[in-house]
Amino acid sequence: MQLANTNWNYPTTIWFGNGRINEISQACKKLGINNPLFVTDEGLVKLDIVEKTINILKRDRLNFTVYSDVQGNPTEKNVVDGVAHYLKNKHDGVIAFGGGSAIDAAKTIAFMSGQTRSLWDFEDVGDNWSYADPAGIAPIIAIPTTAGTGSEVGRASVILDEKLHTKKIIFHPKMLPAIVISDPELTLGLPPHITAWTGVDAMVHAIEAYCAPGYHPMADGIAIEAIRIIAKYLPIAVKDGKNLEARGQMLVAASMGATAFQKGLGSVHSVAHQLGAIYNKQHGLLNAIILPYALKQNKSAIEERMVHLSKVLGLEKEGTDAIINYIIGLRKELNIPHTLKEIDINLDNAQEIGEMAYKDPSTPSNAKPVNAKDLEQLFRAAVSGDINGLQA
Ligand SMILES: [Fe+2]
Repeated sequence: MQLANTNWNYPTTIWFGNGRINEISQACKKLGINNPLFVTDEGLVKLDIVEKTINILKRDRLNFTVYSDVQGNPTEKNVVDGVAHYLKNKHDGVIAFGGGSAIDAAKTIAFMSGQTRSLWDFEDVGDNWSYADPAGIAPIIAIPTTAGTGSEVGRASVILDEKLHTKKIIFHPKMLPAIVISDPELTLGLPPHITAWTGVDAMVHAIEAYCAPGYHPMADGIAIEAIRIIAKYLPIAVKDGKNLEARGQMLVAASMGATAFQKGLGSVHSVAHQLGAIYNKQHGLLNAIILPYALKQNKSAIEERMVHLSKVLGLEKEGTDAIINYIIGLRKELNIPHTLKEIDINLDNAQEIGEMAYKDPSTPSNAKPVNAKDLEQLFRAAVSGDINGLQA
């Protein structure tokens, strides 16, 4: 293979380990943050782990305020209100605490805190990001409390445009958190279904990144190892939520999945983003349901890689069909349904969903080129369960 010119980025500083949440004030100090805005979401703010973290900040006599007006799929309004809160209280940095929603919203608030243009001017299209003032981006400390999205190691956020019912990606290289505190103890209380959905999301990141075309052996290596870790530890974390080793392994694997997907995602995310925006369903659950159908549709482009992945996972048979059967078995074990129909998604707007998915930024990096009709067919198969009807 001819080795292509390409850019790779692995700059995240991660402080990993049990109890490292206690070092949150040192992280602020290291980044020169004296008055952080603590961003979390409306569900999380009521939980013990937020109270515990806030008590650490109080113990260390740090000034801060809390902003938790962040929905499951964060909206433009959540960001705009967060920026107003940030400016009113003269903050000088952001602590992003939570799952993908809270971290995405927090990163975008930090990004927008010093910009003069409006949010959608920075949608990840062309070189829009270059119009941002990098000096106006506040430093970010990210603290993931789920093992899934990996947003803590990413340079982009997904924000819902409520007017157009579409999810948009906001990107800037400086949206990358300067320090990640990755503390497995924070994830101990996650209920089994959220553990399962977010965990499969991490696996989908790694699989789509591994299957994406392009020369990126570091991403490929990280993706393969992430899939291996998730395959081993996700069922344990779901069955035994207090298993700290499984929680720790999953937290690392989620960061690895997102590190790998700088190479690109694919049609699972293209379709899931649209359904998340229309039906307000959990992102990982949507991905988990769609994954086997997308593998089937991509089969002709990914067979060699799936043979290798089958070996890594120690499967009896090898190839795309073997991986599909493995994924279907894993989903069953994790109580995840096989069709979108089972979570009340029907074929309404199928054509429009195909067209919108085609425009999604994840589509160009799908394992093989797909058009709007292909994505509509993928969606239809995932609703009905007709996996064998898909053209490989
Ligand atoms: Fe995802």
